Amino acid sequence: MKIEYLGHSAFRITGSKTLIVDPFLNKNPKACLKASDIRKADIVLATHGHGDHLGDSIEICKNTGAIFVAIHELTLYAQENGLTKTEGMNIGGTIEIEGIQITAVRADHSSCINVMDKGGYSGGNPIGFVIRERNKAVYHAGDTGLFKDMKLIGELYKPDVALLPIGSRYTMGPKEAAYAAKYIKSKIVVPMHYNTTHLIRQNPSEFKMLVNELELGTEVRILEPGDYLEI
Ligand code: NI
Ligand code: MN
Repeated sequence: MKIEYLGHSAFRITGSKTLIVDPFLNKNPKACLKASDIRKADIVLATHGHGDHLGDSIEICKNTGAIFVAIHELTLYAQENGLTKTEGMNIGGTIEIEGIQITAVRADHSSCINVMDKGGYSGGNPIGFVIRERNKAVYHAGDTGLFKDMKLIGELYKPDVALLPIGSRYTMGPKEAAYAAKYIKSKIVVPMHYNTTHLIRQNPSEFKMLVNELELGTEVRILEPGDYLEI
């Protein structure tokens, strides 16, 4: 499984299928791709309706024919905007698409759809995703504060990699995210959702240092947009 960082909270995860999570690309000057550069995608996942996560999901699904996966309310919005292949879910549930298991997990955050010209969509709750294929598991935390049930996510799904926000202000900062790593106990953690704007400026090396101080045996991998790791 290849996990490629596209910037902010966007990742391309490639195993037997190509998954795109939170593709905030066209309006992110730090992203390494534009939505139109993504020619192949099987599943597009959005953790919540905020523009820096839903991002270009709908355009990518239209360009590639990918299935859109999100919380139920967000899939209604996607359908209203022309998507026919959607899979709605809710916290605690798992779906399987062509051998890939996707579990929606809790995220402590808020949500709305930034485009409010269509009434009636709250955007649903924000979520995180655990994505599993064969014996590999990746936890994308979405936007969230620290919560103790991350321990359950670690115990139940044993993620190899956890993708954790460290930007603070809107999500966990480095100190909280290091503590999250302690609960999750993944082999690798990757910081995300920082340095996209001045409001979420962070030094990822500080996060690395804080995780190392906890002596978890967890490796911190700091990725620049375009970098990837393989598990
Ligand atoms: Ni958000
Ligand atoms: Mn965000």
